[in-house]
Amino acid sequence: MTTKVIDGVLWYAICKSHDVVERRGFRVEFDSEHDVALFRVDGIVRAISNVCPHKRASMMFDGFVDQGTVRCPLHGWTYRICTGENVAGGRNITTYDVREEAGFVWMREPDPLLRFEM
Ligand code: FES
Repeated sequence: MTTKVIDGVLWYAICKSHDVVERRGFRVEFDSEHDVALFRVDGIVRAISNVCPHKRASMMFDGFVDQGTVRCPLHGWTYRICTGENVAGGRNITTYDVREEAGFVWMREPDPLLRFEM
């Protein structure tokens, strides 16, 4: 995986920019502890955990996207993609820092304390 350091922080090229389109998720299994679902919201790439905090299903990339939210295909828990907030007030979903540059989506090295939703 290609990496680069920006302002002292390590970033990983995780996919090409054109892999992530509006209204559809794109899954990247970053490593054994970080399964990531990417979305493009109003032109900007965002990343959340692919693992739903409800029953830990790894299906968020396949959720229904609507107006900046994504609904888990299993039982319907819904999250704001930009913030990870659970719209019904339940557990939030993890977000990741991503950016686009040179035709790639780059993800900031995850916090070592950040793991799959428990
Ligand atoms: S596993 Fe996502 S809502 Fe139940």
